Amino acid sequence: MMPALSPEEEAHSRAVTALIRERVRAAGGWLPFEQFMELALYAPGLGYYSAGSVKLGPGGDFVTAPEVSDLFSRCVARQCAQVLGDGGEILELGAGTGRMAAVVLASLASLGKLPARYAILEVSADLAQRQRERLGKLPREIRERVVWLERLPQQPINGVILANEVLDALPCRRFVLGTGAARELGVAIPDELHGEQPGEAGADQRLIERDAEPDPALASACAALLGELPAPLPDGYSSELCLRIAPWIAGIADCLGRGAMLLFDYGLPRAHYYHPQRTAGTLRCHFKQRVHDDPYSNIGVQDITAWVDFTRVAEAAVACGLDVAGFCTQAAFLLATGVEQLLAESTDVVEHARLAGEARRLLLPGEMGEAFKVMALTRGCDVALEGFALQDLRQSL
Ligand SMILES: C[S@@+](CC[C@H](N)C(=O)[O-])C[C@H]1O[C@@H](n2cnc3c(N)ncnc32)[C@H](O)[C@@H]1O
Repeated sequence: MMPALSPEEEAHSRAVTALIRERVRAAGGWLPFEQFMELALYAPGLGYYSAGSVKLGPGGDFVTAPEVSDLFSRCVARQCAQVLGDGGEILELGAGTGRMAAVVLASLASLGKLPARYAILEVSADLAQRQRERLGKLPREIRERVVWLERLPQQPINGVILANEVLDALPCRRFVLGTGAARELGVAIPDELHGEQPGEAGADQRLIERDAEPDPALASACAALLGELPAPLPDGYSSELCLRIAPWIAGIADCLGRGAMLLFDYGLPRAHYYHPQRTAGTLRCHFKQRVHDDPYSNIGVQDITAWVDFTRVAEAAVACGLDVAGFCTQAAFLLATGVEQLLAESTDVVEHARLAGEARRLLLPGEMGEAFKVMALTRGCDVALEGFALQDLRQSL
C-alpha cells in the first residue's frame, strides 16, 4: 500500500501538476517525458528537488549510501586522499544533505590531507540551505574551505570531482519500440484527449502517457542503440535513454584540469541495461521509502530516477579526452578502500554491531553492493586508483 499524501503534499502535488498541464497545453497537447521529469523534479520553487520536502534519509523518501553509513564517505575520502596527494581541491555535484561532504572533510582532516577548497554545485536551493546548516557546524579550519558555486568553475580544477546519485536524477527520454522504429513516450491531458469533463473526479489533476514521433536527436540515438545491441529487442519494449549525460559529462570534463572524477550510481553497462528481458525499462519512483514505477502519481512530491547506462557515460568521457580509469561495483570499491579495516577499528561493541549492519547494507549484492557501480574518469592522473584494485569491469562497457 502506498502511504497517503498529507493535505500539504496533496496541495503541493496539485500545484505542480497544474503547472505541467499548462506546459502540455502550451506545447500543443503533448510533452516529452524528459520535460515532464524536469518540471516534476526541478521546476523553480515547485519541483521535488526545488521545494522543501525531506527527500533524503530515513524520514524522507529514499536513502543514499552516504545516508546509510559514514563508512561509505570515509572510503571515498581515502580514494580522494590518494588523488589529492599534497594538494588540490574537491568539487561535489549534487551534495544532498551535505553528509558526504562533512564526513569526507573530517576524514581528510584526520589523514592530514584537507583539500584547499571543497566546492559544492547544487541545483536545489532547499538542499543547498541544508548543506550550509550542516557544514557550518564543522570546525572553523574545515568549514572555511567549503564554498557553494552557482555554476561550474571557469578555471579548471586539479583534484577530485564527486557525484553520488546525480546521474540518475538527470531527466531522461523514454521510448517504446513499435514495428521497426522507436516512438517517444511523453505526457498528455486525459480529458482533452478523450472528451472527459474537467469536472469529473480527479480529472483536473491527471496526466497520462502517450507516445509520439521522436525528435531527430532521440530517433538517431535509438537507431544507433538498436544497431549495436547484441540481441534484438521485442516490439512493445520500453526503456529510458538519457541524452543529457553527454553534455553533463562534457561540462564537467572542461572543469577537470588534472585529477579524477568519481561517479557513483546504480546502473549497468549498455548490453545489460537494454537486455531483451528488461521490457519495461529502469525508471523508478521513491515515495516515503516505497519504490514503484508510476511517475504520474504523487507528482512533485516523489523522486523519479532512471538507472545509468554506464557505456554512455564512458563514451561521453572518452569524447572529451578523459580516461576511463576504473569501473567496478560499489562493494568492490568499498572493500578496496578499506571498509573492513574501518570496521575493525571500532572497538565499542554496540557501535561495532551498528557499523557491521550498515556495512552489510552497503556491500551485500541484494542490497547496494552490486546494483551500484563506481566509475573513475581521469585526466593527467598517473596513480593507480586504489578503489579499483579488486575489480575491473571496464571490458563489460
Ligand atoms: C538523489 S540526490 C543525491 C544526493 C547526495 N549526493 C547523496 O548521495 O545523498 C540527487 C542530488 O543531485 C542534485 N542534482 C540534480 N541534478 C543536478 C545537476 N545537474 N547538477 C548538480 N546537482 C544536481 C539534486 O539536487 C540532489 O542533491
